[in-house]
Amino acid sequence: MERSLTMELVRVTEAAAIASARWMGYGKKDEADGAATEAMRAVFDTIPMRGTVVIGEGEMDEAPMLYIGEKLGMDTGPELDVAVDPLEGTNIVAKGLWNAISVVAVADRGCLLHAPDMYMDKLAVGPKAVGQVDIDAPVEDNLKAVARATGKDVEDLVAVVLDRPRHARLIEEIRKAGARIKLIPDGDVAAAIHTGFPDTGVDILFGSGGAPEGVLAAVALKCLGGEIQGRLLPQTKEEMERCLKMGIKDPGKVLRMEDLVKGDDAIFAATGVTDGELLRGVRYQGSIATTHSVVMRAKTGTVRFMDGTHRLEKKPNLVL
Ligand code: FBP
Repeated sequence: MERSLTMELVRVTEAAAIASARWMGYGKKDEADGAATEAMRAVFDTIPMRGTVVIGEGEMDEAPMLYIGEKLGMDTGPELDVAVDPLEGTNIVAKGLWNAISVVAVADRGCLLHAPDMYMDKLAVGPKAVGQVDIDAPVEDNLKAVARATGKDVEDLVAVVLDRPRHARLIEEIRKAGARIKLIPDGDVAAAIHTGFPDTGVDILFGSGGAPEGVLAAVALKCLGGEIQGRLLPQTKEEMERCLKMGIKDPGKVLRMEDLVKGDDAIFAATGVTDGELLRGVRYQGSIATTHSVVMRAKTGTVRFMDGTHRLEKKPNLVL
């Protein structure tokens, strides 16, 4: 994989973030998502790579672009699996809340899990707690393990959980164990990534969210030296059949890092759409937009933060 791809991929998430942040607070999540998708798709056309979307905006008949199986790039360069979420946190943008991001991840062809669009149970931790947690262990045991690994008391830990009725029991168990909780309205990719950055104050992510989001988070955590464990949660016969069709023979199996992202290389990039613990959201002033992004590579473990200043009158379609 070309090292220069890291910069190219930041251009992709910057464009999506600039396009979608315009919709912040307007209560129009589909419009925000559409704007991100269109901008992201346009920038991909300028990148020397032969990408295939494995995690995208839906199946070919559901999504006009960035659909699963779509070919991306200039049809030259490395063959890659591409995972995208042009706007992770559509409701967040609609309401102007925290931690909406635009996200892309790539790995060599065949290395990313083709996760079906269904729920996945997830457990994510940063580098210090790698190998110490187990998605099948009781919540209290995992919290104790993270406390030991990070040199904190359980009471000091912050667990992030999506604020959903399905998590009522999980939340009760975390509270009983004594850890503090951050209940988030949406956006578990950002939350999973936060476990890899001690300054965010997030120690562990628990609970179920989208399976495609789980693969995106896995690429980021691979670059950061953290860990996510997952288990697909097919709810219906159709979802079970979809797993089998996608080559997942045992949907109940625990998915570990190597199942989610194979090989030793992968690149992850994200740009803040709204403000968050790690990334600032897009700011506009007249024809200038500023962005804040992170890009990282698994092979080298390099993590770069980038501030962008974009002269919109010089690149009206965000592509140049
Ligand atoms: P969207 O950006 O597609 O709206 O997804 C946001 C999100 O909160 C994800 O971060 C999370 O994995 C998933 O939705 C949770 O799904 P649900 O809202 O059904 O609990």
